[in-house]
Amino acid sequence: MSTLVLGIESSCDETGVALVRTREHGVPELLAHALHTQVAMHADYGGVVPELASRDHIRRVIPLANHVLAQAGQALAAIDVIAYTRGPGLAGALLVGAGVACALGAALGKPVLGVHHLEGHLLSPFLSADPPEFPFVALLVSGGHTQLMRVDGVGRYQLLGETIDDAAGEAFDKSAKLLGLGYPGGPALARLAEFGDDTAYKLPRPLLHSGNLDFSFAGLKTAVLTQAKKFEGAPCEQMRADLAASTQAAIVEVLVKKSLAALKATGLKRLVVAGGVGANARLRAALNAACAQRGVRVHYPELHLCTDNGAMIALAAAMRVQAGIEAPNTDYAFDVKPR
Ligand code: KG4
Ligand code: ZN
Repeated sequence: MSTLVLGIESSCDETGVALVRTREHGVPELLAHALHTQVAMHADYGGVVPELASRDHIRRVIPLANHVLAQAGQALAAIDVIAYTRGPGLAGALLVGAGVACALGAALGKPVLGVHHLEGHLLSPFLSADPPEFPFVALLVSGGHTQLMRVDGVGRYQLLGETIDDAAGEAFDKSAKLLGLGYPGGPALARLAEFGDDTAYKLPRPLLHSGNLDFSFAGLKTAVLTQAKKFEGAPCEQMRADLAASTQAAIVEVLVKKSLAALKATGLKRLVVAGGVGANARLRAALNAACAQRGVRVHYPELHLCTDNGAMIALAAAMRVQAGIEAPNTDYAFDVKPR
């Protein structure tokens, strides 16, 4: 028997809703998904304004759910489980998804399931045309997290290393800001970097030779700031592009070397890359080249599912239910865990 799962993501600045159906065998099927991005709304402020984010999630979530149901040709009453992002994320934004999920659940008499946002990212490559198989090493690189994990199955995650300060996405975003680029900084910095020389500036690769699998990106941001200050307020376009390229190269080199070290330490021959930074073309190219040389297979989410979306939340819930790890509940005493 299959289970129809509605997933709601509202942890930050994207409202995502999706419908996923479990299958007797194999990965659940994505029936429909819809996303509303708040990027344009926050752009004027140079970053996400939590209060505005919550208000916009409230406006968008029900119309998106209706859209997804219509797209999949499903009635509201056909939903078996309603999943929402429990955290981490912005408290007010999370409460919108949790509140709507529990209200829907209570009205329909259907159970709900809170999902860890990072587990959503981690499992998102299972929706790609080339899904991974367990076990694998996962490189999770988002705006708030940078982690290496050993993954042996759904819910069987062993942390191998993580950032001791800034996340990789944060390093992209903060460096972008120093370069006068708008929000979101990662994609903007990557675009500018295409015109630059990535060897122009010598930037630090913190913890590259630390002997463990931890990361540190705070020093990089300081080095970028020091360089940017030397531009004296009026950098030429080429200098900015060179600094962007050098910054991206530093982040990419650390992520690639540490991923290879994790593969070596575990003896595994499969790497899964997930989270917003996983959309970075240079990172993908560098990982593909390094892994091909070592006979390691790399898996990514579809590009449009790299950043936050509802499909990964519905999927993670469906896989947890399918694996018998967690039963959805009818308490409707929704809890969110911002941190
Ligand atoms: O996973 P995500 O959408 O949200 C979090 O859970 O944090 O990741 C967002 C992060 C941001 O820091 C953004 O700048 C970064 O991913 N990002 C990128 C690219 N696309 C998104 N960083 C570098 N290159 C990209 N193409
Ligand atoms: Zn995310």
